[in-house]
Amino acid sequence: MKHFLKETDLGPKELAEVFSLARDFKRTRGSAKGTALEGQTWAMIFAKSSTRTRVSFEVGINELGGHPLFLNTHDIQLGRGESVEDTARVLSRFVHGIVIRTFDHAQVERLAASGSVPVVNGLTDFLHPCQIYADAFTAAERWAGPDGDLVAALRGRKIAFLGDTSFNMANSWILGASLFGMRISLAGPAGHEPGEGIRALLKAEGRPVDFAFTTDPFEAVRDADIVYTDVWASMGQEAEAKARVSRMRPYSVTARLFAAAKPDALFMHCLPAHPGEEVEQAVLDNPRSIIFDEAENRLHVQKAILSVLSASRGR
Ligand code: CP
Ligand code: NVA
Repeated sequence: MKHFLKETDLGPKELAEVFSLARDFKRTRGSAKGTALEGQTWAMIFAKSSTRTRVSFEVGINELGGHPLFLNTHDIQLGRGESVEDTARVLSRFVHGIVIRTFDHAQVERLAASGSVPVVNGLTDFLHPCQIYADAFTAAERWAGPDGDLVAALRGRKIAFLGDTSFNMANSWILGASLFGMRISLAGPAGHEPGEGIRALLKAEGRPVDFAFTTDPFEAVRDADIVYTDVWASMGQEAEAKARVSRMRPYSVTARLFAAAKPDALFMHCLPAHPGEEVEQAVLDNPRSIIFDEAENRLHVQKAILSVLSASRGR
């Protein structure tokens, strides 16, 4: 049985399978009824707000013939101190899989270790792997064209990540770049270098720690195929928002900064965006901004991930 807690939980063969299935799901949506989760119920435990993740999973599970069961942590005993281990054991008696969005990544690992159904990470403070798979698919479908090799289209490409370079999206893109064979340069304020957690994970997996970090945003975007940013104050960091905004201001993706990347570079953002902070409205509106394709592709790619995980049950 497989879990999807981090990008590298699926190997190269499964990555290709996910991209190919996602392409099929996208093409046939509305005409073919999915059956991969027929008769299944998937719990969705959320300790944080969500628009894209919640809706794309609920719709996706439904489109695969399954039933999504949304559980706000405040409404279940987990929010009143029941252990994550007992929650995993109990839910495993009822449901066929669990999607979880929470703060501490270790909680997701403990859930997966204690239960007996597949677990999907719908975002932690450390990683957001579903987003990275959808992002990579979105860029690849542009570069590969309708029938090209989606995985090969990513190899050797460069992504520049600006702003908050030491939280979930930056970490996840570092790990994703390593898996996809991409280069990654990150630019953020001194003191926001990618942390020990992501370095330790790369080392534990025998992957080279070869991302570049700079405090100069123009250096990071040079020759970049993708310019990527995320909010400066993530969920849980609301109290620090003012200080973070003033510290990260030089890393705002302005039209001038975007123009310093490759002439055909794509702009990407996981959303939600704060126009005027991490990105200018003009960049969000640029024809090379593919933010809403990214959001849509969460649905197709997650349906593919769920199909692969469901097929791994009992193995
Ligand atoms: N990008 C993303 O995960 O969005 P939500 O927080 O709306 O789910
Ligand atoms: N870094 C952001 C990503 C939201 C999808 C957060 O954790 O709030």
